[in-house]
Amino acid sequence: MKDIFNTPLLDAQSLHKHFPIGKTPGLFARARGSAGPVPRLHAVDDVTFTIARGETLGLVGESGCGKSTLVRLLTRLLDLTDGSIQLDGEEIGHLPAKGFGKSLYRPRIQMVFQDAGDSLNPRFTAFAAIADPLRRLKPLPREALKARVEELAAMCGLPLELLGRFPHQLSGGQKARVGIARAIAVEPDLLILDEPTAALDVSVQVVILQLLDDLKQRLGMSYLFVSHDLNVVRLLCDRVMVMYLGRIVETGPAERVFRHPAHPYTRALLSAIPHFDQIKGSDGAASVPRLRISGEPRSPIDPDPKVCRFHGRCPQGTEACTQAMPLLQGVGPGHSVACHFPIIDTGIDTVRADTDEPDSLIEDVA
Ligand SMILES: Nc1ncnc2c1ncn2[C@@H]1O[C@H](COP(=O)(O)OP(=O)(O)O)[C@@H](O)[C@H]1O
Ligand code: SF4
Ligand SMILES: [Mg+2]
Repeated sequence: MKDIFNTPLLDAQSLHKHFPIGKTPGLFARARGSAGPVPRLHAVDDVTFTIARGETLGLVGESGCGKSTLVRLLTRLLDLTDGSIQLDGEEIGHLPAKGFGKSLYRPRIQMVFQDAGDSLNPRFTAFAAIADPLRRLKPLPREALKARVEELAAMCGLPLELLGRFPHQLSGGQKARVGIARAIAVEPDLLILDEPTAALDVSVQVVILQLLDDLKQRLGMSYLFVSHDLNVVRLLCDRVMVMYLGRIVETGPAERVFRHPAHPYTRALLSAIPHFDQIKGSDGAASVPRLRISGEPRSPIDPDPKVCRFHGRCPQGTEACTQAMPLLQGVGPGHSVACHFPIIDTGIDTVRADTDEPDSLIEDVA
């Protein structure tokens, strides 16, 4: 029998998504055996994580690191190259993306897109946009549908008189509210938010984030919150995952990762935020070295499986980092990092692990 208390809501194991790049060799080249392997862009590589019920997990990383691809795998808009996705203990990773829209699991994972304006059908009024997933996934009689759409609009702070408007007649904040109302209409267990406020003015962002936080408390959903805004992630998320070139390089409780970032890339990300207090001592003076990164990222096309993806840009990289891919290992409670030389916080100061014995300060992950 399924143990619902110990089964995570979402369990993603070793997810891979590789896109073939360039032209597929023709029939003759393949028949002659002269066709080399098709180059592949590794957008998501060996990504493993879970999301518990009611939890908000943040996903951060620079543009092009694979966040949206990962989201599209989880929402089953894209087929996996390899890996497993379980929802409440049931495998959904093998279900073809084409046709997942009609699956019983569809209502349980919903998504809020980056640009609500782009994701709304210009020919649908706000009412029709919110009613659309209900019509497709949870049909209701006409009067009940109207009542439900109005209830959702009210929950999302959208005045009822705006329900007859088309997207171009709504402000950015109002479109965002329609996108959220639409996503929660079918009562999902997991809401995936891909940079939900990135297209909004700062003042509107705050209101929409507050709305998302309120809805989560009220409806008990889990969130996967994708953002490049680390302050927002710190405020909203219980845990955070940091992604770099298709791989998770650090994961842990948000407060801990932000206070004691152990991966050089996380540290560099945090260093880039002006006045971020995490890397400052109590007197406001910097207590740990700021890390700046320079140089170009490595190519995601057929990357060498033995070389750390951050090597070449990492201020701490050594020859050892080209000999074996660093895997996630525990450095504290629930806190894991994929680096041969993580920056370990001793409680007194933050130091870099001894380069001769890279694993000596690292706890084993059970
Ligand atoms: N359909 C696709 N075909 C080929 N490459 C893709 C495709 N979708 C995304 N990519 C590549 O995968 C990588 C990750 O992209 P993406 O997931 O959009 O990153 P992010 O959301 O973090 O900006 C990028 O190098 C991007 O160019
Ligand atoms: S393994 Fe080496 S190159 Fe990679 S992040 Fe750690 S120190 Fe930098
Ligand atoms: Mg993206």
